[in-house]
Amino acid sequence: MNLAGKTICLGVSGGIAAYKACALTSKLTQKGADVHVIMTQHAAEFVSPLTFQALSRNPVYTDTFDEKHPEKIAHIDLADKADLFLLAPATANLIGKIAGGIADEMLTTTLLATEAPVYIAPAMNVHMYAHPAVIRNMQQLDAWGYRFIEPEAGYLACGYVGKGRLEEPESIIRILEEQAEQAEQAQDLAGKRVLVTAGPTQETVDPVRFFTNHSSGKMGYSIAEAAAKRGAAVTLVSGPTQLTAPAGVKKVDVVSADDMLQAVLSVYDEQDIVIKSAAVADYRPVQTSDKKMKKQAGNLVIEMERTTDILLTLGQRKQHQFLVGFAAETEDAITYGLGKLERKHLDAICVNTVGKDGAGFQSDTNEVTYLNKEGKQQHFPSNTKQQIAHQILNEILADMEADEV
Ligand code: PMT
Repeated sequence: MNLAGKTICLGVSGGIAAYKACALTSKLTQKGADVHVIMTQHAAEFVSPLTFQALSRNPVYTDTFDEKHPEKIAHIDLADKADLFLLAPATANLIGKIAGGIADEMLTTTLLATEAPVYIAPAMNVHMYAHPAVIRNMQQLDAWGYRFIEPEAGYLACGYVGKGRLEEPESIIRILEEQAEQAEQAQDLAGKRVLVTAGPTQETVDPVRFFTNHSSGKMGYSIAEAAAKRGAAVTLVSGPTQLTAPAGVKKVDVVSADDMLQAVLSVYDEQDIVIKSAAVADYRPVQTSDKKMKKQAGNLVIEMERTTDILLTLGQRKQHQFLVGFAAETEDAITYGLGKLERKHLDAICVNTVGKDGAGFQSDTNEVTYLNKEGKQQHFPSNTKQQIAHQILNEILADMEADEV
């Protein structure tokens, strides 16, 4: 959606990432948004309010009692006129205060008074971000409907490398635009919990080697994104990929097939729809080495054992869930797909041919045949993975409605 004409209250708290909020203000203003900045006193230690005033061309608030317009009460006026509230950077202290209902300065007071959607972009030291108090506070805010824009992993100003770096201004704006677009889209998955798996798994041989496959995660991430846009509460269990979590999706990172099994089982009971597009390893090494294996003369034989078939396990434990698998085949795709549909007790399966140009692994496009347990075969010709994701979700919703009749 267009942010032009939207009134955005930008809350800036006292972390070094406050400097990035300047670029954010500038870019939002360039997009036509009416940006009103509220700074904590500590934020003003990092960046001058005058900088934000010049960039936003609006007065900047740092003090509840510094009323700039006698005819208005500033914190109520800002709270009422905001189309959305963005906290960037949000420090651990600010997050803790909001979760505790504290309103002891201009920013937290305005936040308590607003009914606008609030987006929180945390930025802090990696250990602070992992602290149980911060996690508890974020869970509380999540339960109240506040939305998080996850920090990136990378070099932090404190010298550590890890998760805690404020998401880049361009990405924050993209997420805001996507979220707003999502709000305008049909919400036919509202109230549904959807679990999607994506990407490859990695099965360790030693500290420098592992077995994996070509999955990029694009298909699964597209499904997660499409489901979130249509109003579902989405959990994305992802193997290692280069992709960023889609807006509004709860992402759980895993590495091995066994990690994925545990992550999926821990949330399975509460799901309405489960879509398993991950390319899970069927085998893992029987033995892994703590130390790098040294080259030896002659060939190397690595004994492999079967991993647990996650989809089969889910099929055997299925209660109310609508369970959808994927089948990546190189030949006789429909025949093999139908076999998996039945053997794994699925409601439907999406068959794609890998090794074909413009389909399967890595590609931005795919070509899928949706097979359901009633014998329906619906072919979707080559299209972007985003469009294929929506087509799959349409079929799932239609099948779920038919099951209810
Ligand atoms: O990630 P991309 O680059 O976008 O590529 C997308 C894709 C090709 C990976 C995707 O469209 C796809 O086909 N995913 C399924 C790949 C796969 O593992 O297929 P399979 O036929 O080997 O497995 C059948 C089903 O069983 C899959 O749903 C798989 O997740 C599941 N499975 C397999 C093995 C295992 N141990 N546990 C499982 O749950």
